[in-house]
Amino acid sequence: VINDILDISRIESGHLKLESKCLNVSKLVECLLAPLRLQAQMKGLSFEIASDPKIPCGLYGDETRIGQVLTNLVGNAVKFTDEGSVYVHSECVMVTEKYVMVRFLVSDTGIGIPADKQSDLFEPFMQVDPSHTRRYGGVGLGLAIARQLAQLMNGSLALKSELGKGTTVEFSLALAKVESDGIKPQEKKPAAEEPHPKVAGGHVLIVEDDPVSAYLAQEILCDLGVTVTVAPNGLDAILAVQQQKAAFDLVLMDVQMP
Ligand SMILES: Nc1ncnc2c1ncn2[C@@H]1O[C@H](COP(=O)(O)OP(=O)(O)OP(=O)(O)O)[C@@H](O)[C@H]1O
Ligand SMILES: [Mg+2]
Repeated sequence: VINDILDISRIESGHLKLESKCLNVSKLVECLLAPLRLQAQMKGLSFEIASDPKIPCGLYGDETRIGQVLTNLVGNAVKFTDEGSVYVHSECVMVTEKYVMVRFLVSDTGIGIPADKQSDLFEPFMQVDPSHTRRYGGVGLGLAIARQLAQLMNGSLALKSELGKGTTVEFSLALAKVESDGIKPQEKKPAAEEPHPKVAGGHVLIVEDDPVSAYLAQEILCDLGVTVTVAPNGLDAILAVQQQKAAFDLVLMDVQMP
C-alpha cells in the first residue's frame, strides 16, 4: 500500500520516470503471470494467455511498469471471479514508423461492476463496495495507478463490465521500435548523406532483369558517388564487359537471370 501511495504521488507530481529497455512482450506476459495462473488454477478457474505473433520482439518499454499494470488487472480478474475463466489476450493494433501500438485485453467471468460505478473506479481508493477491502483485500489503488501509467506510456485503459457476468479491461500502450530518445538514428543520418570515400568514383555493372530492383540498386550506388551501368540480361552483361574500355570495379549480378 505504501508503495502504491508513493507511486500515485510520484505520477501526480510528474516525478515518475519511465525506463526504456528492450523487451519481448509475449515472454514478459508469460513469466509475469505465472503466479496468478497458479492462483487462478487453485480457485478452479481456467486461465488462458494468447499472444499475437505479429507483435515484434525487439520493442522498447518499461517492463516494470507494464508488469505493474498487468499484474493489477489480472490480479483483479482472478480476485473477483469465483467461477469460469480469466483470459489475457495481447494484440498488435498498429505499427507506425517509430511505434508499435500493443493492446492487452483482460477478461473474466466474475462478479462484474454496476454501470454507475464503472467510471469512479479509476479514482484512488474507490471500490464498488467498501466491504471489498475486507472481503477481497486491496485498498482501491490498482486501477488508478494502472490508468495513469497507461497514459504515461502513450496509451489508455478502459473498462467494460456487466454485473454478474464479467469484466473486460483494455490496456493499450505505445512501445518504441528503437530507443525512444531517438539519438541513434539521428546520429547516423549525416554520415549516410556523405558519399562513402572508399567507393566514390568507382564503376559498377548491375546485371538485373527486374527493373524495380535495378532502379533501386542504381539509386543507392549513385548516392554513394558510384558510376552505374545496368544490363537487363546475361548477354548484355557480357557485351558491356567486352566493350567497356576501363574495366568495371565490380559486377553485381542477380542469381536467376534470363
Ligand atoms: N475484474 C473485476 N471484476 C469486478 N470488480 C472489479 C474488477 N476490477 C476492479 N473491480 C472493482 O474495482 C475496484 C477497484 O479496483 P482496484 O484494482 O483499483 O483496487 P483493489 O483491487 O480493490 O485494490 P488494490 O488494487 O489497491 O490492491 C475493486 O475494489 C472492485 O470493486
Ligand atoms: Mg486491484
